[in-house]
Amino acid sequence: MRKTIIAAALATLFGATLASAQAATISISCGAVGLELQLCQQGANAWAKATGNQVKVISTPNSSTERLALYQQMLAANSSDIDVYQIDVIWPGILANHFIDLSKHIDKAQIDQNFKAIIENNTVDGALVAMPWFTDAGVLYYRKDLLDKYGKKPPTTWQELTETAKAIVDGEHAAGNAKLQGFVFQAKAYEGLTCDALEWVDSFGGGTIVAPDGKITINNSKAAAALDLAATWIGKIAPEGVLNYAEEESRGVFQSGNAVFMRNWPYAWALGNAPDSEVKGKIGVTVLPMGGADGKHAATLGGWQLAVSKYSANPDIAADLVKYLTSYDEQKRRAIKGSYNPTIAKLYQDPEVLAANPFFGDLYETFTHAVARPSRVTGAKYNQVSSEFFNAAHAVLSGKTDGATALAALEKKLDRLSRGGRW
Ligand code: GLC
Repeated sequence: MRKTIIAAALATLFGATLASAQAATISISCGAVGLELQLCQQGANAWAKATGNQVKVISTPNSSTERLALYQQMLAANSSDIDVYQIDVIWPGILANHFIDLSKHIDKAQIDQNFKAIIENNTVDGALVAMPWFTDAGVLYYRKDLLDKYGKKPPTTWQELTETAKAIVDGEHAAGNAKLQGFVFQAKAYEGLTCDALEWVDSFGGGTIVAPDGKITINNSKAAAALDLAATWIGKIAPEGVLNYAEEESRGVFQSGNAVFMRNWPYAWALGNAPDSEVKGKIGVTVLPMGGADGKHAATLGGWQLAVSKYSANPDIAADLVKYLTSYDEQKRRAIKGSYNPTIAKLYQDPEVLAANPFFGDLYETFTHAVARPSRVTGAKYNQVSSEFFNAAHAVLSGKTDGATALAALEKKLDRLSRGGRW
């Protein structure tokens, strides 16, 4: 009897101590593009409620380029202010040293549900430095109503897109719809332009800047032709302002009914069909056009992962939050509410996910065969490679130079940066 009472008392005491030692406040950095911040907050709150921990959601700059700079400062200072970092698919090679190995915290079965290519991308020197959260690929949005009105089909080549956009804009301007633009995309000098320009270049057969074996391939006539064609859009089918547009600026123009075509990521679908959207029910989504009849469809691979900082005071609890947020159920909720593409293959067969995003089924191949930026081969130097590339593309788009001249200079810079292709 006595023994049992003592045991019970000890258990209560021990249990209470354990519980209080375990409860913690975990801070997580989230993006704020589209519905990201809201969905992150909801997911984190649900985890906090279920586990008795607290969460602090930290909003970060929308631009991937600016977000990386902020993270690099914090991580270089070994700051414990952020426990969980939302990281871009191109960053594992740059930031791996600052993150714990999540394969020691998350069961293999959950890891194995994800696309293998993303798990491989996030594995550096044998350590799983980040769990996939959502994937991305560039897609073409178009106004079904306007294409129908002018008897046009969604374009299969960039040349056709250029002509269709011009024909519709000319017709609409003549009819008094003065604000209508032909095509909006991401042409500000930042990581988003690297994504868009890589799509143009690769769709023309101009390669991926640096080949997987490290060879610098960007200085070729197909790549130059792709950039030269894009430059003809500025001030014609695209507003001059596009030179300063990121994702959200493009979406703003398209969603208010002022563009025929938009290149963006899947998240723009949920918002474009929201009750307050001017273009609700009028949007089509398809693959990005090919660079000419002998070109190919190319979509840049994007996406975001969750990583736990080595400098976190509570890495085990932080990893538990990552496990929760990247789970099947949470990815499903985010796909339905915000059109964030799951990284779990099975979710592309889920009827509720497909009902909310019919193009997830139609464009499955696009999502699983998207073109990777050369971040794997260039490793820690990727950010410099990308900056050189988007600056070169921006110079061509703004008419400061032409494709061939810009790419010859870019090749020299990349050659120096890599000490002759030895990344
Ligand atoms: C999207 C992509 C990301 C990319 C960024 C560029 O967020 O998911 O991979 O770097 O856009 O703007």
